[in-house]
Amino acid sequence: MILVVGSTGSLGSSICELLRAQGRAVRGLCRPSSDLARVRTLTSLGVELVEGDLKDPASLARACEGVDAVISTATTTLRDQTRDAIGSVDHDGQLALVDAAARAGVRRFVYVSYPTGFDGPEPSPLSLAKRAVEARLRAGGMTFTILQPVAFLEVWMGPALGFDYARGQVRILGSGEGRVSWIATRDVARYAVASLDSDEARDVTIELVGDVMSPNDAVRLFEQTSGRSFEVTRVPVEALEAQRATATTDLDRSFVDIMLTLARGFEVERSAFQRQAGFEPRSVADYVSSVATPASTS
Ligand SMILES: NC(=O)c1ccc[n+]([C@@H]2O[C@H](COP(=O)([O-])OP(=O)(O)OC[C@H]3O[C@@H](n4cnc5c(N)ncnc54)[C@H](OP(=O)(O)O)[C@@H]3O)[C@@H](O)[C@H]2O)c1
Repeated sequence: MILVVGSTGSLGSSICELLRAQGRAVRGLCRPSSDLARVRTLTSLGVELVEGDLKDPASLARACEGVDAVISTATTTLRDQTRDAIGSVDHDGQLALVDAAARAGVRRFVYVSYPTGFDGPEPSPLSLAKRAVEARLRAGGMTFTILQPVAFLEVWMGPALGFDYARGQVRILGSGEGRVSWIATRDVARYAVASLDSDEARDVTIELVGDVMSPNDAVRLFEQTSGRSFEVTRVPVEALEAQRATATTDLDRSFVDIMLTLARGFEVERSAFQRQAGFEPRSVADYVSSVATPASTS
C-alpha cells in the first residue's frame, strides 16, 4: 500500500493516477475541506481514501497503518494561511508525518521538496521547513528519496502567478533574460512514481528539471504560437528585494525568495536518475503549444 499525502493537490492527484494505472494499491489522505471534484476522481480511480490532517498526528498514525511507502507532496502555499500555515503544516506537520511513518514501519518515503537554489541568503520559513524535513529523513531509518523539482510550468507560466497567456498579458520577474529551469507537474509525478522502484533513487536528494529557457524566449514562443503580441510587465529585481525587506507573512517571505531566484536566472542539470528514467520530460515549447491558442482571424 502506498500512502499519498497531498493526494487532492495538482501533483499528488497526478501521482495517484499514475500509481493506479500501474495497478498499485493507493491510499490518499483527504480532508473534509478537500476539493470535492478531486476527491471524486480519486474514488473513481480506486484510491482508498483516509481522512486526516498534517496538523493532527493521531490521524497520521492511522493513515500510515499497513503502508509500505509514503509519497508526500503536501504544502500550504496555495491554501488559506489562517487555517493551514507553513509553520504548522509544511514544517511541523511534515515532520510529524515522517515520525508517524517511521513508527508504523514504512520502508520507503518520497518527499517533494524544492531546490536549495530557492533558499535566500537567510532561509525563509518554507525553506526552513523543507530543509528540516529533509534532515529528519536523512537521520531516520527509512529508505528515502528527496525530490527537488524546479519551477512548475503550469504554476509559473500560468495565470495564477500573473502569466496570463489567454489574455496575452504576462508579468516577468527581473529582466527575463536569465535562463530558468522548468518542469511539467505531470513529469514530477512520473519521476516520483519511478523513484519508488529505483536503486538510483535510494537515500539521495535529486533535483528534477524538464527544460531550460529564459522567460523572454518563452514569451516569444507564446507570441509566435498565438500570432499576437503580448503585453509584458516587468518586476525589477530591486522591487522584489524591497518586497522581501517589507514582507510580513511567512508565505510572502517564502514566495519572494523563490521569485528572486527565478528573476536572477536559475539553471539545473539533469541527474543520472532522470537520464535513466526512460522518458523525455516535456519541453517548454510543447507546453506552450498545448496552452497557447492562435489569435482569431475574424
Ligand atoms: N509550484 C512549484 O513551482 C513547485 C516547485 C518545486 C516544488 N514544489 C512542491 O511541489 C509540491 C506539490 O505542490 P502542488 O502543486 O501539488 O500543491 P497543491 O496543488 O497546492 O496541493 C497541496 C496539497 O497539500 C494538501 N494539504 C495542505 N494542507 C494540508 C494539511 N493541513 N493536511 C493535509 N494535507 C494538506 C492539500 O490538501 P487539501 O486539498 O485538503 O487542501 C493538497 O492535497 C509542494 O510540496 C511544493 O512545495 C512546487
